[in-house]
Amino acid sequence: MQVYHKSKKCRICSSKNLELVLDLGIQPPANSFLKKVSSSEKKFPLRLFFCKDCFLLQLVDIVDKKLLFSHYLYLSSASKPILEHFSKYAFNVFNKFWKNKRKPLIIEIGSNDGSLLKEFKKLGANVLGVEPASNVSKIALKSNIPTINKFFTSKLASSLAKKGKPNVILANNVVGHIEDLNDFVLGIKNLLDDDGIFVFEVPYVLDLLKKTEFDTIYHEHLSYFSLLALTKLFKKFELEIFDIQRQSVHGGTLRIFVAKKERKKIKSKVIKMINFEKEYGISKIRTYKQFGKKVLILRNSLQKKIKQLKQEGKMIYGYGAPAKGNVLLNFCQIDNKMINFIIDTTPLKQNLLTPGTHIPIKSPTKVIQKGAGDIFLLLAWNYKKDILKKEKRFRKRGGKFLIPLPNPRII
Ligand code: TMP
Repeated sequence: MQVYHKSKKCRICSSKNLELVLDLGIQPPANSFLKKVSSSEKKFPLRLFFCKDCFLLQLVDIVDKKLLFSHYLYLSSASKPILEHFSKYAFNVFNKFWKNKRKPLIIEIGSNDGSLLKEFKKLGANVLGVEPASNVSKIALKSNIPTINKFFTSKLASSLAKKGKPNVILANNVVGHIEDLNDFVLGIKNLLDDDGIFVFEVPYVLDLLKKTEFDTIYHEHLSYFSLLALTKLFKKFELEIFDIQRQSVHGGTLRIFVAKKERKKIKSKVIKMINFEKEYGISKIRTYKQFGKKVLILRNSLQKKIKQLKQEGKMIYGYGAPAKGNVLLNFCQIDNKMINFIIDTTPLKQNLLTPGTHIPIKSPTKVIQKGAGDIFLLLAWNYKKDILKKEKRFRKRGGKFLIPLPNPRII
């Protein structure tokens, strides 16, 4: 099996007009937590390129999807704020389109442990998940969410369509994972009922750029979407973005509603947002070059701050072991000499080591013993509000948090 290859053309428009905007070095896949230190740990280049023709920001370093996704350690259900987000999400979509109507069929691509489908099921929908990770799809099945353990492709879409076309296709934080975007969107088009909608969430490139969220760039995330780039992709398949909603999860997400051409009225806010992207410079290479420079400045200042804290004799721990935390740790060369351990609520991650930096991950009960002189580097910075609230007692005892982005600061 070839585990890595370099793509030479744009994932949407096949242009070769790609320019490097940020090099994050040679990194292990961000979710490849280890049982023990191994000399054969796999690492691959991690570089961000911009397509000057369709404006898609993307990786060209492709790690085989089976290596990344067949056994997966991220569980939606491990983060309470995500479960709250899913509950509101299902309520919003269901009531907007299916209140007092027949039972819709909802298919979710990348359905993980079934957390989102569970919410739709509670509201009365028929649900089906498609999830490539076998360990995670087993968890979904155990909680009675029918799940097909496969990667979604246009071929799978055709066989699913024979059994009934869904009214809604969902895809959360998964469209950015897809290498063959054209085949994926073809599958959506062929599977979706003619009056159906495709609702998906992606981290929004405007948030990535504005808040210097460089650590969300990792091998799993092949594309970083703007509406400008997505519009070009959907147009090829006679699909249209008719509505959008900005969401705060994952550091800034865009929820996007897509339908078959001329089936839904396009909301004015879609046009407004596209115009805003143009004004912001989403189609200009200089916008991304500036972002690249900001990332290097951030790395310097975080390294300086950690060095200073260690010189003052402070103990530093990590809070949360998200995939993005591993990008930050590897890129900023913060390892187990600087961080004693990381706490994380995901049972599957506990007692493992972070990839590349080899920091042990423990269960959060450890936080109860910490206080004055202790600092948690907030790697799960996207849950800052919830975590600061949850750790009120630690902070009362004099414990501090080091927030890494967009500018490192202690609170
Ligand atoms: P995510 O940002 O990709 O959702 O990952 C967040 C990680 O942080 C996940 O491994 C769960 C963990 N986490 C905690 O350890 N404590 C918390 O309070 C929250 C909200 C998340």
